[in-house]
Amino acid sequence: DMTEKEMIQEIQRLKKKKNAVILAHNYQIPEIQEIADIVGDYLKLSQEAVKTNGDIILLSGVHFMAESIKMLLPNKKVLLPVYDAGCPMAEMIDVEKLKDFKSQYPNIPVVCYVNSSAEVKAESDICCTSSNAVKIVKSLPGEKVLFIPDKNLGDYIDKKIPEKQVISWEGFCITHHRVREGEVDLVRLRHPEALILAHPECPPEVVAKADFVGSTSEIIKFAGESNNNSFIIGTEMGVLHQLRKNNPNKKFHLLSPALICFNMKKTTLRDIYLALLNEEKEIFVEEGIRRKALKSLEGMLEIS
Ligand code: 13P
Ligand code: SF4
Repeated sequence: DMTEKEMIQEIQRLKKKKNAVILAHNYQIPEIQEIADIVGDYLKLSQEAVKTNGDIILLSGVHFMAESIKMLLPNKKVLLPVYDAGCPMAEMIDVEKLKDFKSQYPNIPVVCYVNSSAEVKAESDICCTSSNAVKIVKSLPGEKVLFIPDKNLGDYIDKKIPEKQVISWEGFCITHHRVREGEVDLVRLRHPEALILAHPECPPEVVAKADFVGSTSEIIKFAGESNNNSFIIGTEMGVLHQLRKNNPNKKFHLLSPALICFNMKKTTLRDIYLALLNEEKEIFVEEGIRRKALKSLEGMLEIS
């Protein structure tokens, strides 16, 4: 059995030998963030992926992230070290349900949060992430948009753009949706000096009470640049690693003990090592689906 140190050395060696690039989402365990070439929110990972000249792209995160990167880079080998690391929100809508939704509201553009399957992206007009959602919705013609699958992000966008009506699907993130308004009130009493930074996947009453709302990387950036010394973090606990590493003199508390996404925690260094060693856990997308979904993804990247 290898020690952790040997495993890390082996990963570094395989990375060089195979010209592989490791992308890790901000929610991955600290050991993985440390060996990754790029760590970021979903938008940053996809923007960096299209720039790299690696032959193998290993995505440490959840399934939809690797699948979207494969659609952007069909000729590269894209690996997801743990196949069953999925995002439950992505499963809250499928093509059939989306077609029903569209027929209820005909001729309204569909904006699809990247936390969704390739098939659902293929049936949508444009994708968005948590960092560009407002910009994407603003860019569309007409007064109405259909937003899938996250009702909380949909509600956030709706309030940010008063001139538009956002009609949301009823999906949600099982992690962020658990945060309660009462937890915000309690934390305000306990840490009145702290700023509350929340992800827009949190429920509307939590988002309404936050001092800053943004994607995972936007939260990390905001805390780094702020003159405040104390922060309450309203997103998955994985972001604490970079927050504490980048800001050793600032204090960070988690808004709720519920803020852990077990799918994001499924991947270990060993899984990464094995996927690289055997070039296994490759992601494939059917070409017809890919071509349609790509339009939604590229539309998003152009505007971002
Ligand atoms: P970000 O793009 O903000 O990193 O969000 C991804 C995600 O899954 C949030 O739960
Ligand atoms: Fe999906 Fe929520 Fe986990 Fe993000 S935190 S991957 S939205 S379940």
